Amino acid sequence: MKERRESLKEVSAGPDPPLPRMLLLVSYLWLAQLSLCLADVHQLEAARIMNITPVVDGHNDLPWQLLKKFNNQLSLKSANLHELQGTHTNIRKLHLGRVGAQFWAAYVPCDTQNKDAVKRTLEQIDVIHRMCHQYPDDFECVTDSASIRRTFGTRRVASLIGVEGGHSMDSSLAVLRTFYLLGVRYMTLTHSCNTPWADNWLVDTAEEQPVHNGLTEFGKRVVHEMNRLGMMVDLSHVSVETMKAALNVSRAPVIFSHSSAYAICSSRRNVPDDVLRRVSETHSLVMVNFYNDYVSCSSKATLAQVADHMDYIKRVAGAKAVGIGGDYDGVTRVPLGLEDVSKYPDLIAELLRRKWTEEEVKAALANNLLRVLQRVEQVRDEMAFRGVAPDDTPIALQELEGGCRTPYGYPSQGHRPGILPAALLLLLSSTLT
Ligand SMILES: *[C@@H]1O[C@H](CO)[C@@H](O)[C@H](O)[C@H]1NC(C)=O
Ligand SMILES: [Zn+2]
Repeated sequence: MKERRESLKEVSAGPDPPLPRMLLLVSYLWLAQLSLCLADVHQLEAARIMNITPVVDGHNDLPWQLLKKFNNQLSLKSANLHELQGTHTNIRKLHLGRVGAQFWAAYVPCDTQNKDAVKRTLEQIDVIHRMCHQYPDDFECVTDSASIRRTFGTRRVASLIGVEGGHSMDSSLAVLRTFYLLGVRYMTLTHSCNTPWADNWLVDTAEEQPVHNGLTEFGKRVVHEMNRLGMMVDLSHVSVETMKAALNVSRAPVIFSHSSAYAICSSRRNVPDDVLRRVSETHSLVMVNFYNDYVSCSSKATLAQVADHMDYIKRVAGAKAVGIGGDYDGVTRVPLGLEDVSKYPDLIAELLRRKWTEEEVKAALANNLLRVLQRVEQVRDEMAFRGVAPDDTPIALQELEGGCRTPYGYPSQGHRPGILPAALLLLLSSTLT
């Protein structure tokens, strides 16, 4: 406001006799136009940068929407992904948003744990593969950093898979390895439930009590096996102790695929300062979440508040620790100005307005994630070179939960319910026969 008034003053101090009202009005409109153009400089710059370095987003839940809306039937007419309505994500919006790569979440809710979690996770992996198959001009399923870079020159969105929640692997390293073979390149250690080997973020709230205080010994072996495979460890949704334990034991940098800064909004889904410093030390990455409740700790939020999180993480952990993980289609409320996946360029324009350098912006867009993934691939290759073998020791039977498991492979005394009195056992066996 101030700037505009001062500019006007200069104009009216011009020719003598005084300008007619009409001319003044025209000058005013011209100045308004000029200031609009100046604002657009950042928008144009964002577009220029993103044509070279598009956004690599850490977390999008479109596959979950496909399950809920269409039971994963991509062949339905209404499931046309070009113009899909009622979602944050469709192909047209992805192109407008200059999305170059997307980690699609293979997410299944915690109530599948110890039930059909593995089957349902495989179905979400399958629907992502079928997205790539059905829209070959728009999606290309890839599994490594070099292929992401290669697709930047094309129209296609490099599509990668993240399994969101350790319950999906059902405490089986064999399932984890098979996920890798199917193209999964990160696994979030927990969703919003503990697994038999890791605590989730809710233990840091009043809702749940800690059970494992971070990772169990098996949980540490899960991280080791992920390092050996070349799968990124994702710490969104885990407890602070799980974050710290994983940052300690992982041989490769880790990611938070969709979490923001706890100091800005004190949700336990966000990353506290001491962990941000460990992120910096380990060359890891926090991909900022857009969910209003994690951005502003209220039901309303703005694009500028998302930029505040990015500014903050940059200040505490450095520009190399900042990324973007919008959580689109996984949440019900997104900020004003970031309504859907077409809006990323507006966020980048805001960072440029805040004096982020081109290099810093490119780091947040893509280069940080590419660096982490490349390092994860190097660690995999180094471990292979050293001859580190697959971990074939199963989780202890007594650490498993749920009543519908078969005990094959475990010593038979392992699954006998030893706490039951012998009399009851006798009674049971006589009624069952
Ligand atoms: C991580 O390692 C540091 C230094 O070795 C140690 O002091 C700390 O207790 C460890 N934290 C966890 C959670 O393992
Ligand atoms: Zn999530």
